[in-house]
Amino acid sequence: MCGIVGYIGKQNAVDVLIDGLRKLEYRGYDSSGIAIVDHTGLNVQKAEGKLANLQEKIKDDNLHSSIGIGHTRWATHGRPSDYNAHPHTSQNGRFAVVHNGIVENYLSLKETYLAGEHFTSETDTEVVAHLLEKFYNGNFEETVVKVLDVLEGAYALVMVCADEPDKIIACRKDSPMVLGVGEGESFIASDVPALLAYTRNCMYIEKGELCVLTRDGITIKNHALEVIEKEIHAIEWDAEAAEKEGFEHFMLKEIFEQPAVFKKTIAGRIQGASVHFDEFELTPEQVQKWKKIYIVACGTAYHAGLVGKQIIEKMARIPVEVEIASEFRYRDPMLDEDTLVIVISQSGETADTVAALREAKKHGCKVMAITNVVGSAIARESDYVIYIWAGPEISVASTKAYTTMLIAEYLLGVYLAQQKGMPNAEERAAILDGLQNLPEITEQVLTDDYLAQIQNAAEGFKDANDIFFIGRGFDWAIALEGSLKLKEISYIHAEAYAAGELKHGTLALVTEETPVIAICVQESTYDKTASNIKEVKAREAKVLAIINEGDDQAQKFVDQTLSIPKINNFIAPVLAVIPLQLISYYTAKARGCEIDQPRNLAKSVTVE
Ligand code: AGP
Repeated sequence: MCGIVGYIGKQNAVDVLIDGLRKLEYRGYDSSGIAIVDHTGLNVQKAEGKLANLQEKIKDDNLHSSIGIGHTRWATHGRPSDYNAHPHTSQNGRFAVVHNGIVENYLSLKETYLAGEHFTSETDTEVVAHLLEKFYNGNFEETVVKVLDVLEGAYALVMVCADEPDKIIACRKDSPMVLGVGEGESFIASDVPALLAYTRNCMYIEKGELCVLTRDGITIKNHALEVIEKEIHAIEWDAEAAEKEGFEHFMLKEIFEQPAVFKKTIAGRIQGASVHFDEFELTPEQVQKWKKIYIVACGTAYHAGLVGKQIIEKMARIPVEVEIASEFRYRDPMLDEDTLVIVISQSGETADTVAALREAKKHGCKVMAITNVVGSAIARESDYVIYIWAGPEISVASTKAYTTMLIAEYLLGVYLAQQKGMPNAEERAAILDGLQNLPEITEQVLTDDYLAQIQNAAEGFKDANDIFFIGRGFDWAIALEGSLKLKEISYIHAEAYAAGELKHGTLALVTEETPVIAICVQESTYDKTASNIKEVKAREAKVLAIINEGDDQAQKFVDQTLSIPKINNFIAPVLAVIPLQLISYYTAKARGCEIDQPRNLAKSVTVE
């Protein structure tokens, strides 16, 4: 998704902007651009494609300025191109604007205020630059407020004015942005990694606030332009955590980080045989009041929700429905004060999930968030937050965020059961015990020997056109995640089916050309899944099975096995998904795919 960087201070803004935009490349983008204010006035440079194209374009221009804004764009209105790239300027070239989000009423704004004006792009953003010029009264701040009054939609906007070259103005509604506080310099960015090389002091901007960045500091104002006091937070992520640390791809690095981040997700939350969250406390009355739970999320987070449903229903005996966020708000769900809505989102900024959260709040539901990003919209707007503490996840394909979401759900399942006074104390203690052993056990599926087995399996998948994943119960839930991961980064068509459902239609597609990955980890469904494997074997499909260590039956009816170490079967999904992540990674690698930034996808999807 789009990335924003802004800088004013003592360094050459061009260098800071390019460096910051590079740190945001992981968000996915199709073009980039910068605007600086120099002796010529506003100087805007843009290029379609990778950031290197922009650098090539400006390399001989000797650009220099102490103020500027930059952007990486992911197309929404208008195709990827130089002219649709940001920054966009006003007709007279006095204002430049970079924008994340969508101005929903841009067409009516054009008709009402800007009739007859010439636009150089197809974007909604250019309307903002034109409005700044139209409403300009000699005071940049007042002009921005007037423009905001007529805008509808979601936005993070950063603007410069050639007539007032000592300030950058920024504001946001629904799209994220963070301010970096330096000495004699000020920064703004859509994401923390763009700031890390320069400062660890940051401020989060709330909806409707106006930020004025100067060389002497940052002032936050409300709509009436009165100054608001803001707390400065220390960024805890270190710069190294955002680098690849010697791994070929961020995705592999993040898969390998799982044992370490599992410890962080659990840390301080297991106390003896019970769970405690620093972030909130629920009384027995509150938990008993919830007659139903909805889990709402997108993509991988939705798949985590499918595991969460089974955990919560089993542990706390509260019925759970799992919904895709983009569907949830449009189907008039039955929500009331006796319903808890759990939203799951790594980024905490996914537009569909934010919209679902707001819909739930409108109906008086309490909302609980499971998220990775402190200060994100979802964290701020929810009543209760469980952070997964996975650290920055750069690869578009989510791995460690998924598994830590599962761990958060186990903790939550135990917590709800314990607060509700359920009589399953022994079962709860066994789960907590298993979670504590998980980091160490996970190391065993990240050995060179194990990776060699997976690379060997990937060789067999790399030329397939279609691959099926099958499983039952928990094994089906992780099969869905395995298939999403594979199609996302290897571009092989992959589908996951409840193993028992294949024979009701999809089995017609199974031939010797369609490899099948079967997850046979859940003991309670093992025999039934084995029968379904025999059905696909009878159609000549090659089968790789993910099994528990010590399973000496599977070899008799599949072609290849990958085993996971023995662990409490109820928490096995966290472990069993790791070979699926690695199969996707090595298959994509064998096909020469661009793993960390797959085509057409973005890390944080902030449009609906
Ligand atoms: C995961 O590999 C995907 N990139 C994607 O499905 C992602 O999980 C989804 O867009 C939701 O993102 P979120 O967790 O940040 O809300």
